[in-house]
Formats: sequence, C-alpha cells, structure tokens
Amino acid sequence: MGVEVKVEGLTKSFGRQVIWEDVTLTLPKGEISVLLGPSGTGKSVFLKHLIGLLRPDRGHVYIEGHDVPNVSEKHLYEVRKMFGVLFQDGALFGSMTIYDNVAFPLREHTKKSESEVRKIAMEKLELTGLIGAEQKLPGEISGGMRKRAGLARALVLDPEILLFDEPDSGLDPVRTAYLNQLIVDLNAQIAATMLIVTHDINTARTVPDNIGLLYRRHLAMFGPREMLLSSQEPVVRQFLNARRQGPIGMAEEKDAAELEAEREDGDVMPSLPPIPPQIEPSNGVSRPTQRPAGDWLREHGVTPPPGSFSGEGSYANSTASTAPPATTERPRARVTESGRDNGEESSVRVLRGSPGTRRSSTSSKTTAAKKTPSPAAKKTGARGSSTGSSRRRNT
Ligand SMILES: Nc1ncnc2c1ncn2[C@@H]1O[C@H](COP(=O)(O)OP(=O)(O)OP(=O)(O)O)[C@@H](O)[C@H]1O
Ligand SMILES: [Mg+2]
Repeated sequence: MGVEVKVEGLTKSFGRQVIWEDVTLTLPKGEISVLLGPSGTGKSVFLKHLIGLLRPDRGHVYIEGHDVPNVSEKHLYEVRKMFGVLFQDGALFGSMTIYDNVAFPLREHTKKSESEVRKIAMEKLELTGLIGAEQKLPGEISGGMRKRAGLARALVLDPEILLFDEPDSGLDPVRTAYLNQLIVDLNAQIAATMLIVTHDINTARTVPDNIGLLYRRHLAMFGPREMLLSSQEPVVRQFLNARRQGPIGMAEEKDAAELEAEREDGDVMPSLPPIPPQIEPSNGVSRPTQRPAGDWLREHGVTPPPGSFSGEGSYANSTASTAPPATTERPRARVTESGRDNGEESSVRVLRGSPGTRRSSTSSKTTAAKKTPSPAAKKTGARGSSTGSSRRRNT
C-alpha cells in the first residue's frame, strides 16, 4: 500500500496573487511527510492541487502514471479514490449524523451492504474515539471531535494517500499526542503515503520521515526530518524551533530595518536544540519506511546537536507528560561509536559517511550542529527542492 506522489514545477496564482512557484518534491511511497509554512503561504491550496480540486498554472503531480492536473474526468475520479483527506475545517455534512458522515464514502463509492458499512464505520469511529457520539450532528459536538470525525471518514476507504490539513488544530495537547500516535500506528498498519499540514512544531519534529517548508512563495526546503532539524538555513531554523529571531515576522516577511535592528540588539539565533526521537508505533514494531535514528546524519556527515535522540532535554520531552505511554516507554537507542548506548553524555556519533560525504567524529562536548550538508549532499538527501530555495540560502 501507499504510492509515490511526485510534484514537479508546480506554480499557482489567484489573479495577480502568486501563491507559490516551482514547487518540486516527492512524497516517498508509504512515508509520513509534514508540510509547514506561515499562515497564508498556500499549504491548503497545495493539498487541493494533489487531489485535483484546484488546477495549477503550470507543473505536474504524478501519481501512478497519471498527471493529476491533466487527466480526464474519468481518470481523475479513479485517482481521487486513492485519497483520504481530512480538510482543515473537517468538511462534514451538517445535516447528517456523525455515523452517516463516516459511512458516506462507503455508500457512495462501494457496493458494500449496510452491515459491512456499519462494521467499517464503527471500527473507524472507535479508532478515533467517537463511540457514543455517532448519532449526534456535527453542530452538537466539539471542534476536536469534528476533526476526529473527519479523520474517521478519511480512513474508511483504506486510502493509498492520506492528506491531513491541520489535524491537530483545536485539539488539546493530550489529544494531539494521541492523534500523533494514531497517525504513526496507522502508517505502520496501512503504509499509506501521508502528508500532514500542521502548525504544531512538536508534531513536525517527532512524527514525520520528511519535512517541507513553504515560505515566500517557494518551497524553502523539503527532505528527511534529520536534515531539516539540523539545518542552519535561517528560515528553517526559525520555524522549526519556533523562534522570534529570524527572517519571518508577524506579517510573514520582516523588512530589512527590523532585521538590522535585531542584529544590532545582538538578537542572535540560539543554538539548535537536540533532535527528538521519532515517535514509534505503539506495538513496538518499526514502520517499513522508518530509518534508524541518526541514519541521514551519518550518511551526510552532519553532527547533530548534543543530546539528540536521547529524549532528554529535547523538544519532544518537554511535552512527554502528555504523550501516550507507548511513545515514552520506548526511547530510541543511542548510537555510539561502539554501537552501544553510552550513557548520558553521548550523542549520536557520526560513524560512516557514504562515499563522497564527509566523515566526522562527534565529540560529546559539541554544543551545536556545526555542519550543514554541502549543496550536493542536500541534493542527495533531499527529496525535493525549489529553485528559489537555493537562491536564497544563507542570505
Ligand atoms: N479559491 C481561492 N481563490 C482565491 N484565493 C484563494 C483561494 N483559496 C485560497 N486562496 C488564497 O491563497 C492564499 C493561501 O491560502 P491557504 O488557505 O492555502 O493558506 P494556508 O497556508 O493553508 O494558511 P493557514 O495556515 O492559515 O491555513 C491565501 O491568501 C488565500 O486567500
Ligand atoms: Mg490552511
């Protein structure tokens, strides 16, 4: 299950408003990716292009040999059946009960009997914690419950590709932790290709295999989680570490004067926090697409911040008390030179560089990630890029 989604040179404007240009990335088959970006940068618009609800000015979205913007109506219908989508507002039918909303795609797209429909709908309602609320109308339940009902509905057709538009907005921190665990468990179970749009930095840091960031009408970066979490690119650092310091201001782009004042005030970017462990499936069995902790860093000769993957002092750990027990009980093993867990001091040591990449012997005294991958390494490691991103890098 799960199919690759390949986006090439996607460009979209509404009238004179350019939303984004030349977005190129690949959502690898069966992997979880997160898309971040300041509000209004076109994340929801991007999701709508993947399922062909909006057409780009230029560019392609290849799924199983189909180019979504250019397929016939008949094929578009087939392509859409591969998707499960959780829209930002839940998009439930207000006059239907929660049960009928969840059963809707099964009644619409399959020939299943009512008892089969009931079995599947109830299973998804149970999975999302909605048993007892199935006879209520969307207007009679909380916003968080509506989100979960949208998720239940997105799951009923066993999709190959799952798109989540801010699944965690409106959820309390405990439910967000449960939802994140549910997403990881689902991925382990059905291996669907998943793309999550979120503003929750903890989700972005701990759930996905890959992270992308839309900024200033371009895809600033897209690649493996460890690449983004160790990146020195100012906008990526600022966003992924939820800092005020950096190029993003209240109105998305700070003007030059504000940035200059920040520099004069000595408002420098703090060192990178440790990379948190990735959430693992609650049954303890790794997902098929999951890479071992530190894999990308080792491959590209990048030194992670001290304490990475230990869970101690990491961003993830700051909310650990709200996480479901399964994720906190199994901290990832720390990889050391000897390949064994080396106690408190050790961080991930970079053992092997793939041919042509730098070797580095990490000292446990290192205080911050000192290296960023070379542009070539970025190219190999990143599954996507934007012509705009490299132009603006380190400016
Ligand atoms: N159908 C449309 N017609 C015209 N403009 C649109 C349309 N849909 C979205 N936009 C505009 O495109 C821009 C990006 O919108 P989008 O909803 O994708 O942002 P977003 O990144 O999802 O923001 P948020 O994080 O707040 O959800 C906004 O300026 C919005 O007004
Ligand atoms: Mg949105």
